[in-house]
Amino acid sequence: MNIEVRYQSRGGNTEGAAEKIAAEFAVTAKPVPEAYTYFGSQLTEYVDVLFLGGGVYWNQPHRDLDYYIRQLDPKMVGQIVFFSTNGGFFPHGQSVNHQLAVLARAHGLTVAEETVQINLYLHGFSLLNGSVLWDRIRLSFWSKKGGNIPEKQTRQLCDFADKLGKDLQLTD
Ligand SMILES: Cc1cc2nc3c(=O)[nH]c(=O)nc-3n(C[C@H](O)[C@H](O)[C@H](O)COP(=O)(O)O)c2cc1C
Repeated sequence: MNIEVRYQSRGGNTEGAAEKIAAEFAVTAKPVPEAYTYFGSQLTEYVDVLFLGGGVYWNQPHRDLDYYIRQLDPKMVGQIVFFSTNGGFFPHGQSVNHQLAVLARAHGLTVAEETVQINLYLHGFSLLNGSVLWDRIRLSFWSKKGGNIPEKQTRQLCDFADKLGKDLQLTD
């Protein structure tokens, strides 16, 4: 079984979440390419299960993820499992997983029913995260880079990956 983990992350939270999932399957999480470029981690061989995640921005997925899904070749992917991280004030994460699933299915990709979204409240939250300039002048709590996933959310991710791994017979 070939398992891959790809993520989009402005502020580091989804990158941190992706690394937790990847560790469960002993693979390396990689960023999706920037939209409209061919740079980044393209799939080079058939993937049985692709974990694909991103952050929630104004109840929308990031355009990099949207673009990544549109350029995926359905013949190269067995199924996609979506995950997302969100601010947690509104139940947006699940809705974004749903939006991505609709897009992926419309593109001919197979999407697993199981998804996971984790609420991180203000953890690593900054409207400016992801801008190169801001990365250089990052100073306060409000601009702190995310990615250090708290224990409770780590458990949620690991339990999800563990259960899915068993259901799909990816792990013992
Ligand atoms: C510009 C912006 C808009 C956001 N909009 C939402 C939102 O609509 N709903 C929500 O629950 N969280 C929202 N958040 C919080 C992010 O989803 C959350 O911080 C997430 O973990 C970001 O992932 P990242 O660190 O991988 O970029 C927003 C964050 C930013 C920076």
